[in-house]
Amino acid sequence: MNNLRRLFALSVAYLTLADFYQNRAPGTPMKMQIREAQTSDANSITCILRELGWFDHLSSEAVETTQQRIASHLRLCRADSSHSVYVAENSAGDVVGYGAVHWMPTLFLAGPEGYVSELFVKESARGQGAGTQLLEAMAAEASKRGCSRLVVLNLRNRESYQRDFYKKCGWEERPSAVNFIRRLSS
Ligand SMILES: CC(C)(COP(=O)(O)OP(=O)(O)OC[C@H]1O[C@@H](n2cnc3c(N)ncnc32)[C@H](O)[C@@H]1OP(=O)(O)O)[C@@H](O)C(=O)NCCC(=O)NCCS
Repeated sequence: MNNLRRLFALSVAYLTLADFYQNRAPGTPMKMQIREAQTSDANSITCILRELGWFDHLSSEAVETTQQRIASHLRLCRADSSHSVYVAENSAGDVVGYGAVHWMPTLFLAGPEGYVSELFVKESARGQGAGTQLLEAMAAEASKRGCSRLVVLNLRNRESYQRDFYKKCGWEERPSAVNFIRRLSS
């Protein structure tokens, strides 16, 4: 029990020191640099996705295959203004997270809708503000484009849903909406 207490005290001291050296009050989000993703970010994004471990096909293929496919997707996104992909870089210049949004001209809406398809932050960098700042960059771009709204699919069993991540970022849940998918054989 004493060891547990000591471990807890050490962790608190470490976190407080880390905040002190990064010149911020404890618990204050770290300033990340949010920028548009370049094709050269493919390797960092591959690391984030493989570390996440949610997608079986990524774990079973060669890392180079994933890197090449992501580079090719990034090239396509960068060639077409209907997509925006952002990365979050920490103060050491490491890419710790990314997010993608697709701008859809929805005919019944006054302005386009932004569909957030991906938002992932490395486990070691979570809770430091990267996810929030990536969403803010998307919202700023959405306003510039005169969008009506942003939408995202968030599974109820995910920690992000259970910890109200989107609600804390000012998003509103639509309990009346249901999500359907039609699986297509490849
Ligand atoms: C959800 C996610 C993008 C949030 O990014 P983040 O940089 O950790 O979040 P921020 O630091 O900006 O915001 C803090 C909030 O994020 C959520 N959060 C923090 N750590 C989290 C974690 N390990 N897992 C899930 N959500 C977390 C909490 O709501 C937290 O608020 P709280 O501290 O008051 O509980 C990130 O945790 C992540 O990549 N999770 C796994 C992938 C995922 O669920 N993506 C969303 C799919 S729709």
